[in-house]
Amino acid sequence: MTTENTGRTAIVTGAARGIGAGIATRLAADGLAVAVLDLDEAACTTVVEKIEADGGRGLAVGVDVADEVAVTAAVERVADELGEPTVLVNNAGIIRDNLLFKMSVEDWDAVMGVHLRGSFLMSRAVQAYMTKAGWGRIVNLSSTSALGNRGQANYAAAKAGLQGFTKTLALELGRFGVTANAIAPGFIETEMTKATAARVGVPFDDFKDAAVKEIPVGRVGLPADIAHAVSFFASEGAGFVSGQVLYVAGGPKA
Ligand code: NAI
Repeated sequence: MTTENTGRTAIVTGAARGIGAGIATRLAADGLAVAVLDLDEAACTTVVEKIEADGGRGLAVGVDVADEVAVTAAVERVADELGEPTVLVNNAGIIRDNLLFKMSVEDWDAVMGVHLRGSFLMSRAVQAYMTKAGWGRIVNLSSTSALGNRGQANYAAAKAGLQGFTKTLALELGRFGVTANAIAPGFIETEMTKATAARVGVPFDDFKDAAVKEIPVGRVGLPADIAHAVSFFASEGAGFVSGQVLYVAGGPKA
């Protein structure tokens, strides 16, 4: 499928697997050239090969989104080798769960570093191309955990922080034709949710069954569910939608 987005270049962070991989392949199917960014460049090649096998254009780039120098270099490389980026999806994420009294400063800082500092550095680098083009789309991955989640003081704070970050980008960049929106997924089946199940010592199928009981549509989410929402926010027609937080969780969230 191609859309009016054909010819544009997107960057998706944390795209070697999980939700990011789903977003990258969906945006490529929508007609965008897609830079697949993750910590290990080699780990990105499977997604790039899938994009290319389906007739699209992709580029694997290794970067730690919390590293200012590496982010600048990665974004310049994308502009040089794939095209100047005007779509950015800040998806890279980690969890370092623990109850507050057991949470280390390292685990607090690591989560803030990837989600908040990383999204800030990536957005600051890419907005230069967006404002130059007079068009851009930023999508940040929040979470239902932004509403509060036991064992996730760091992650919940970061994901709530991303909502304020998103609204501020919408205010600052709107005049340049740039929108910024956040997607707050509920339970999505990925390595991240598998790791959570392992941490609490529950077999993943049992963990999923318990989650499904609380989800009105009666199933867990898949990366493609989030990719569909990203595709909408990245589309030409979504230019009047900005500063929003969309809960994609199989039911309502406050
Ligand atoms: P995942 O753990 O499967 O994938 C995350 C990817 O981010 C990995 O490939 C990892 O290498 C990469 N990454 C981590 N730190 C990085 C860094 N410093 N620089 C570059 N890349 C880095 O996780 P999943 O489930 O695909 O999550 C994607 C996003 O969606 C995250 O922001 C997560 O917080 C969010 N989310 C996930 C939910 C779920 O149920 N799986 C629910 C709500 C939000």
